[in-house]
Amino acid sequence: MHHAKPQASQHLTKATKPMTIDYQERIPNNVGLSDNRRLQRALESWQPKYLDWWRDMGPEGFQASDVYLRTAISVEPGGWAHYGMVKMPDYRWGIFLAPPEAGRVVGFGDHKGDPVWTDIPGEYRAMLRRLIVTQGDTEPASVEQQRLLGHTAPSLYDLRNLFQVNVEEGRHLWAMVYLLDAHFGRDGREEADMLLERRSGDPEKPRILGAFNEPTPDWLSFYMFTYFTDRDGKYQLATLAESGFDPLSRTCRFMLTEEAHHMFVGESGVQRIVQRACEMMREHDTDQVRGHGAIDLGTIQKYINFHFSVSVDLFGQERSTNAANYYTGGIKGRFREDKIDDDHRLADAVYAVPALDGDTIVTVEAPALTVLNERLREDFIADSARGLARWNKVIAEHDVEFELSLPHRGFNRAIGTFAGHHVAPDGAVVSDAVWNQRVGDWLPNADDKAFIASLMRPVTEPGKMASWIAPPARGINGQPVDYDYVHLT
Ligand SMILES: [Fe+2]
Ligand SMILES: [Fe+2]
Repeated sequence: MHHAKPQASQHLTKATKPMTIDYQERIPNNVGLSDNRRLQRALESWQPKYLDWWRDMGPEGFQASDVYLRTAISVEPGGWAHYGMVKMPDYRWGIFLAPPEAGRVVGFGDHKGDPVWTDIPGEYRAMLRRLIVTQGDTEPASVEQQRLLGHTAPSLYDLRNLFQVNVEEGRHLWAMVYLLDAHFGRDGREEADMLLERRSGDPEKPRILGAFNEPTPDWLSFYMFTYFTDRDGKYQLATLAESGFDPLSRTCRFMLTEEAHHMFVGESGVQRIVQRACEMMREHDTDQVRGHGAIDLGTIQKYINFHFSVSVDLFGQERSTNAANYYTGGIKGRFREDKIDDDHRLADAVYAVPALDGDTIVTVEAPALTVLNERLREDFIADSARGLARWNKVIAEHDVEFELSLPHRGFNRAIGTFAGHHVAPDGAVVSDAVWNQRVGDWLPNADDKAFIASLMRPVTEPGKMASWIAPPARGINGQPVDYDYVHLT
């Protein structure tokens, strides 16, 4: 057993009082911002730049609309949200950390068992800065990717969900900027400014990660993005929530509660599209449902293939010295580190990873510490499969013979072992010629994209849905589905 040092337990006793959020402040927070003038000044000078970015790059055309949004008012489980009509630029973005855990110790790596750090250890400063900036960069990126979608929402319910996701991604940016300003001094402030200067898809100043420079041109892509790419976010945040750097851990723990809603939007969105397709298949006794204003299951499968493959790339190379260093340093753990039954140091452990042997995909053993990215990717894949099982249940309930599936993890990869090779969705390694011939069957082709684009017409009457999507089972926060979720101006 490890025992926390006296000063650590003293600190934690003091901090376990209820974590109330102060909304009287210019920047709502539960970190006692008014007691830290330097930090308060830094954040207050960043705030107007953030609002400029939001007005320029946030949802286009709806800045003056009242939207039924939830705002965090407490970080305690169960009671954290308030719902009301808000104009997005007036949303109370702020800094909310999950409550500290008394006696928390580092759970893995060389410092396992030591009291967690409330300040950054000098030796890990560069690594932590890179992790925080990379995570922070994804948050505004997704808002930029989605900024035109409001013009083509399939219902007011969906429009509201889009904006909820957008304002919360904005808040996630605040969460990372808080860490940069509170713990990294001048370079933290510079990084905070740069987070507002990069632009998704801009070749001159792109966002850091590939998937965050892809356009999100339509609502099918939006639901796939929130299902797969926000789920990557969940896994990254979960590993950072294990961090021995306690402010990062507490920040990420609260972000995860918000992230759950984003994945709900994705999963339920795709499910409603699948349901609509099945209803049309039954009604017209055909799987060619495009003529009936629905999206056929084959097209849905291609969008799964695309969004899954760009999202698994986000986990990085199978073998990674950075990942090993993060782990050994106690700054980025594995998914649910405390639920894993091993020594949490991984000095001698091995782990199975895929590799290519000529044209065959094989499994090889590698030192576990060096393949943590692949292990996390595997956790992500298993989690992704659960939603597909629920979508397939809808298909089966309609007596339709079709099964949606995840493509092989080697399919359409740009990073790692499979980059530069062609792997079919079923895991067969194929030649350039076969790939070029079949790629239009596996990934959305120009016709598919044009068809999806043709469906993107706004539906703005409360309770009405576009032809290609079934209504949701229920509304938001107990409101009816036909509630007036967004007051259009
Ligand atoms: Fe986020
Ligand atoms: Fe998200």
